[in-house]
Amino acid sequence: MEIASRVILLLLLPLFNFVVAQNASRGAQEFHVGGILDLETMVGKIARTSISLAMEDFYAVHQNYSTKLVLHIRDSMRDDVRAASQAINLLEDYNVEAIVGPQKSSQAVFISKLGNKSHVPVISFTATSPSLSSKSHPYFVRATLNDSAQLNCIASIVKTYGWRKVVTIYEDTEYGRGIIPYLVDVLEDIDAHVPYQSVIPPSATSEQITLELYKLMTMQTTVFVVHMSFTMASRVFIKAKEVGMMNKGYAWIMTDGVTNLIDSLNPSVLKSLSGILGVKFYVPKSTKLDDFTTRWNKRFQADNPTDLPLKLSTFGLWSYDTIRLVAEAAEKVGLTNATFTKPGVTRNSTSLETLKTSGNGPKLLQEILQNQFEGLSGNFDVSDRQLQISTFQIINVVGKGWREIGFWTAQNGISRQLNKSRPATALSGSARDLYPVIWPGESKEVPRGSQIPVRGKKLQVGVCTSGYPEFMKVEKDYITGATKASGFSVDVFEEAVKKLPYALPYEYVIFSTTDDRSSEDYNDFVYQVYLKIYDIVIGDITIRYNRTFYVDFTLPYTESGIAMIVPVRDSINRNTWIFLKPLAPGMWFGSVVFFIYTGVVVLILEFLGNNKNVRGPIPSQLGIMIFFSIFEGKELVQRFLSRIVLIVWLVFLMVLTSSYTASLTSMLTVQQLQPTVTDVHELLQSGECVGYQRGSYVKGLLEELGFDRLKIKPYDPDDFHEALSRGSNNGGIAALVHEVPYIKLFLSNHCKGYTMVGPIYKAAGFGYALSKGNPLLRDISNAILNVTGGDTMIQIEKKWIGDQNNCQNVGPLTGSSTLTFANFRGLFILTGVASTSSLLIALIIYFYKKKHKTTKIMLDNTNLPEENGINEENSELQEGNQDSTGVEQNTQRAGQEENGLEQQTSLEMAAETSIVMSRNGSTVISRGKRTTGLQVELM
Ligand SMILES: *[C@@H]1O[C@H](CO)[C@@H](O)[C@H](O)[C@H]1NC(C)=O
Ligand SMILES: *[C@@H]1O[C@H](CO)[C@@H](O)[C@H](O)[C@H]1NC(C)=O
Ligand SMILES: *[C@@H]1O[C@H](CO)[C@@H](O)[C@H](O)[C@H]1NC(C)=O
Ligand SMILES: *[C@@H]1O[C@H](CO)[C@@H](O)[C@H](O)[C@H]1NC(C)=O
Ligand SMILES: *[C@@H]1O[C@H](CO)[C@@H](O)[C@H](O)[C@H]1NC(C)=O
Ligand SMILES: *[C@@H]1O[C@H](CO)[C@@H](O)[C@H](O)[C@H]1NC(C)=O
Repeated sequence: MEIASRVILLLLLPLFNFVVAQNASRGAQEFHVGGILDLETMVGKIARTSISLAMEDFYAVHQNYSTKLVLHIRDSMRDDVRAASQAINLLEDYNVEAIVGPQKSSQAVFISKLGNKSHVPVISFTATSPSLSSKSHPYFVRATLNDSAQLNCIASIVKTYGWRKVVTIYEDTEYGRGIIPYLVDVLEDIDAHVPYQSVIPPSATSEQITLELYKLMTMQTTVFVVHMSFTMASRVFIKAKEVGMMNKGYAWIMTDGVTNLIDSLNPSVLKSLSGILGVKFYVPKSTKLDDFTTRWNKRFQADNPTDLPLKLSTFGLWSYDTIRLVAEAAEKVGLTNATFTKPGVTRNSTSLETLKTSGNGPKLLQEILQNQFEGLSGNFDVSDRQLQISTFQIINVVGKGWREIGFWTAQNGISRQLNKSRPATALSGSARDLYPVIWPGESKEVPRGSQIPVRGKKLQVGVCTSGYPEFMKVEKDYITGATKASGFSVDVFEEAVKKLPYALPYEYVIFSTTDDRSSEDYNDFVYQVYLKIYDIVIGDITIRYNRTFYVDFTLPYTESGIAMIVPVRDSINRNTWIFLKPLAPGMWFGSVVFFIYTGVVVLILEFLGNNKNVRGPIPSQLGIMIFFSIFEGKELVQRFLSRIVLIVWLVFLMVLTSSYTASLTSMLTVQQLQPTVTDVHELLQSGECVGYQRGSYVKGLLEELGFDRLKIKPYDPDDFHEALSRGSNNGGIAALVHEVPYIKLFLSNHCKGYTMVGPIYKAAGFGYALSKGNPLLRDISNAILNVTGGDTMIQIEKKWIGDQNNCQNVGPLTGSSTLTFANFRGLFILTGVASTSSLLIALIIYFYKKKHKTTKIMLDNTNLPEENGINEENSELQEGNQDSTGVEQNTQRAGQEENGLEQQTSLEMAAETSIVMSRNGSTVISRGKRTTGLQVELM
């Protein structure tokens, strides 16, 4: 073992001994404990003062303890080997039963192994490297947190501010490296990536650090997580400030290694940290702590009279609590078993092999792990061989100080205040969960995290003239040499870039194509991105699967799909029978049926009412019936009920005729354009020719659909119109299959006579292609969504493609204007109900009266028939009143008066009855008996 042999050498070196003041008075037994610290480091000095205070405080309170710690503190002088040799010396020569320290993780690894071998617990309050696991080192107890405990907190911060890329900067030591794999994992979990990890060796010169920082500046990421020791971090931050990485737009997060000591930082160093965030163990404030801090400050001055005063840090509190932990455990274990056994000695073996084993060790370890108390730093519990703390304070360095902006706990995630529990669903966190931060450069704006640095080169945007200049047209200005691009695709791109949350400088670069502008050409064009010639290519680039092997596409900025352009023709045949078209067959039928029905009903009503007009041969009755139905047969229809039926029927007829007229007018005047082809399969069956744009991949799709190769014809955009207008039979085509955006363009130019049918195929539309994994992709896609969803898109479309609304035959055609039975159902019901109910009423009256009269005549034969008639008339009038409304009554009366004598009905006119009778009596004959004309008129 190499270390072992070096240890032997070092053992001979004079030892720097520092024994903490102790008095083994009152017969207390001495319990020897070793301490290994880097005494000239800041942490070492802080810990030494804390430890001596802890010893004093503890035994001042516990004077009756039977054991008393005797601390042997050694300075390892930042040397791992020296630390190891000190440990061996302590174990061998002082029979220490526990070791407090060592300070560094790298030292702790070997010393823990020694501890395991000799069964001596090693309790370190500073060795935080997660690579040091208590599983592989059973006697190692971490009186602090391991570095990975804070990672979730850091990840939460990254997530809170929405950063998606983070560069880690760490020192090339055991401490620095230990955390990085875990950090990368945790960040990946929240979908943030670590594109670069910057390692700075502890021996790096200022120039090397500066160079490394310049390298970081050229990267797109502006969020850094710094995990370094205190001294290294100070150097790096000062340099970072010098090169301008502490300006607006940058974000820095410090791990606890620096933040826990931030109070002790030189104010000039602290100033260069202004704006950064840090993660810090949280120690609740208490008066006990305040008292201790005052005493500690005094003691520190006394211990280090020549040094600048340092501030008490969490490490100081933990060292204090560690001493209490060990002292209490020692008291419980006692010294009864304090035997040290040496293994079978072979004289020539080194001291490492002959390390004594502590008999008390296992018990002591157990006591330490079980001990749990409220210490200065809060609840001190190492039962998990590691401190159980899960609260971090998030701080923001401002000016020469720092302020707290929030907390992080494993249960609640990020929050402004502690103990404010939130629903578990809200764990994701948002910037509002923290107090506002003053970012580097005194900025209040949250850094975007993936800014293109001003020094970085401009984004190279590949452009090329499209076959459709409306989409993209590129020109080179020969005087200035600048490339000018215009068109729909360019405008959308420029709008999208404007919507990006950061400035994105770009320049257009022409890709010169051969002249056929086929999609093979575009494949080449897109491939340039893969070759890293351009960062992004824009244009009417179809998003296609096989292109995604080389590039990533943004979301589409156009409508998608493949559809057909087909000619339209008027769908209405203006022939002899066009007058039938306005009504659907069902409607014609229904009208005729109701026409007949109404006629029949009126006829029956009149018949029952003894209208003389309805007496006669069947054919003439049929004529009368038709007459009833169409004309308001005032003179012919005499009965009140018939009139109601007729009025309803007339309303129906009025509505029907006006609807018919309107419908027929629209058919004769408005062109009803319909596509000649409505389905691509129609074309397949009829074997007609289809066209596509020369060079387009649509050809492959048509062949897949089953079109004969001879029936698929390529055309250039300029020839579409001609080919379509010639038609399939005359050497042209019946339809042209194309991508929807192009079809819209075509339709805006040839609005009359064509329409779009489909889409018949799905396609993703047009997008922009970026290099794979380009961080801009997501931002540009989001910006495109914002542009396409807004009003600007309509403006751009109007500008380049034309106003879609002006072209009426685009889109689905309106349905036919033929009136169906269903349209008029309500009216049919109305007239049906009116007819049927009138019929029923009339029948009831008729049968009732017939019966009534028969009996009356039989009983009262001698009475004048006139009197009878008047009586009956009286009662029937009342019946009529009950059936009809007042208005109808008035109408009826008015009508009767107009008609003069023949229809005079009032009771007062009974005197005239005889005249009427003499006129009408000869013809009006009822079945049962002779009755008066007056009676008929009333009904
Ligand atoms: C030891 O205790 C005695 C009195 O018991 C005291 O005088 C002496 O100063 C103490 N020594 C130390 C080093 O504290
Ligand atoms: C710790 O010591 C035990 C025996 O005391 C041994 O079995 C084990 O392998 C040791 N572990 C390490 C990591 O050295
Ligand atoms: C480090 O601490 C975290 C959280 O306390 C714990 O989950 C993890 O197991 C620890 N790692 C080691 C190596 O002790
Ligand atoms: C120890 O050293 C002696 C000579 O000093 C030698 O004879 C003996 O073999 C050595 N023993 C071992 C175990 O190496
Ligand atoms: C994609 O497929 C088309 C045919 O569908 C082919 O012409 C083209 O070369 C392919 N492109 C790539 C980049 O493979
Ligand atoms: C685009 O973004 C702006 C600013 O965030 C927002 O106000 C606007 O509503 C967005 N537009 C759409 C269509 O999403």
